Formats: sequence, C-alpha cells, structure tokens
Amino acid sequence: MGCAYRERLVKNMEVATVILSALRAAQGGEVSGETLCGKLGITRAAIWKHIEALRTQGYEIKAQPRRGYRLVASPNTPLETEVAPLLATRQLGRQWHFFLRTDSTSRQLGLLAEKGAPEGTVVVADEQTAGRGRMARAWFSPAGINLYFSILLRPRVPPAAAATLPLFVGWGVARALESMLPGLVARIKWPNDILVHGRKICGILCEMQAEADCVQHVIVGLGVNVNLTASDMPAEIVRLATSLRMVSGDMWSRPALLAAILNTVEPAYLRWCSEGLTPFLDDLRTRDALVGRRVTLEQIGRQLAGRAVGIAPDGALLLETDDGQVVPIVSGDVHITGIHN
Ligand code: BTN
Repeated sequence: MGCAYRERLVKNMEVATVILSALRAAQGGEVSGETLCGKLGITRAAIWKHIEALRTQGYEIKAQPRRGYRLVASPNTPLETEVAPLLATRQLGRQWHFFLRTDSTSRQLGLLAEKGAPEGTVVVADEQTAGRGRMARAWFSPAGINLYFSILLRPRVPPAAAATLPLFVGWGVARALESMLPGLVARIKWPNDILVHGRKICGILCEMQAEADCVQHVIVGLGVNVNLTASDMPAEIVRLATSLRMVSGDMWSRPALLAAILNTVEPAYLRWCSEGLTPFLDDLRTRDALVGRRVTLEQIGRQLAGRAVGIAPDGALLLETDDGQVVPIVSGDVHITGIHN
C-alpha cells in the first residue's frame, strides 16, 4: 500500500470517526452541517462526500434541509468505525484492516506481518472466499452473518511455550461469549474449538513463524458463528455447528462481540506472556469438553483411541489408552466417540 494512499485512508477514517461520534452523541437528533464543518475544518461539500461514503458502508443517515444530519441506523458489520469506540485495548485492534470480501484474513495478515505490521494488528472480513481451518480443511465463511478475523501476536517466548497459545485464546473467546449472553456455557474441545451444547460455535487456527529459539509471530485466526442459522449451513456441518443466534434466538452485534473478544484477550495475553498457561488452567479444566469422554485421535500417519482424562500444565491432552497408560498428546484432531463408564 502506497504511503500517500495510506495517509488518505487514515485521514478519511479520522473524519468518519468525528462525524459518527457527533451523530451518536446527538442520540437520534440532528447535527447541522455547520457544526460538522466547524469540528473538522472542512467544507460542507466535503462533509457531504464523507456522509455519502458512510452510507455506502451501510450507515443510514438522513439529511434534513436546514436542520442537518441524523444517524438512523448503523451497519452490523465489523468496521473499524463500529468496533474502535468499543475497544478498551492498548494494542489489539489498534491497526485495523477491513475487507468486504477476501480469500482469508489469516493469509492477508501473514502478508502484513512479513512487512513488519505491529503486534495487535487485526484483519477482519465480512466474507472469505478461501477461509482455512485446521488440518487443511475449509472454513465456511458466508457474507454478513459471522465473524472472520485474524490477530497478529509477537510473543517473546520460545516456540515450545507458544504451543499453549491456542488453548489460552480459546479460554478468552469462551469468556467473551459468556459475557455477551449470561447463562451460556462455552466449553473447549482440545486444542481449540469452542462448543456450546456440544456443537462448534468458534474455530481457532494459530499459525506460527519461528526460528529455533524464538517466535517471530503467531497469526491467530478466529471464525465465530454469530448470526448463522441452520438454513445457511451446508449439509455436512448442520449437525456439528451452532451460533449465538441459534442458542439464543436473537440477532447479535458482530462489532460488539469482536470488541468483547479483543477486550478479554488482551489483558489475558499479557498475563500468558509472563506466566504461561498456569493462571488459566483451573478455569480451562472446568470447560474441558473432552474429559471423561471416549475419543479417537488422528495424527499424521497414526490413530489412537482412549479416554480423555484432562489437560496437562503444558497444554497437552492427557489420553488414557486402552492398556491403562496415560499419554500426553501435543497435536492432532480429536473426535468424541462416546462417554466412558
Ligand atoms: C478450525 O476450527 O478448523 C479453525 C478455523 C479458523 C477459521 C478462521 S476464519 C478467520 C481466519 N481466516 C482463515 O482463513 N481462517 C481463520
């Protein structure tokens, strides 16, 4: 992205932010063009252009002759102008890249990371055309209903320590989901699926770039099913997936959920960087969707069966095999096959 183009984007964003915060402060009342000109030091014609640009992003803004502009409705889209006012973070989400449609937010963030993007940079898309999941699977990413975003982290920890990152991020997302909908119980299916009532509501894909003894960056990609319904889903995921809307019957604000996730993850991330998984272990264990369940584990080139008996302090899944041995598992895909008795 050219420097002048980037500067223009930032300037447009600042103007849009000032206009929107004036309109929001009027709480459904009008704000005169003159007031906006005074705040921004630009002409009425320039204000009009910015209002038009906001309308194309989904803002409903009424213009009344001689009275001014009135904000009627805001888009339920994870735009920077919607999420930034809700953020309580210092770093996460302070650099924002929004795509109406892109191949994969994680791929796009990977390109930015290689160019030196700062920690906390977020790439978010309304729709992904090549959303990727774990084990080279595709991630279903239709427009307008869910959250697809990736966060750039640059933890100063050795690669082995970063192995617990997916579990800790899952913990943060589970907490954020529960803060949105009191009474909801979000469980974690090792290593990083979030389940509600046994169905997947969020998938997390952590992709690490590292040298022998230090992590360069981790791209944490999250797909959260927010307003998805069964009729939106392809047949192969109907029995496996759920969404906030499906469990509550209500439509949810995507910007509010995204801000809640970033606001929950940032302070926990700082703690994880200095103390590792330890402060989160007790809570994680209460959320363990696998403990006591009979499972099969698929790893490249081998399959194991047994009973999940917990999560080790280093984040490994503890699997009791049929000969009674407890084996720590550090990677693989787990399928629940039943309840062990
Ligand atoms: C999984 O459960 O398999 C992980 C799914 C991760 C999907 C998210 S959507 C945003 C980000 N961009 C991607 O291409 N993938 C992740």
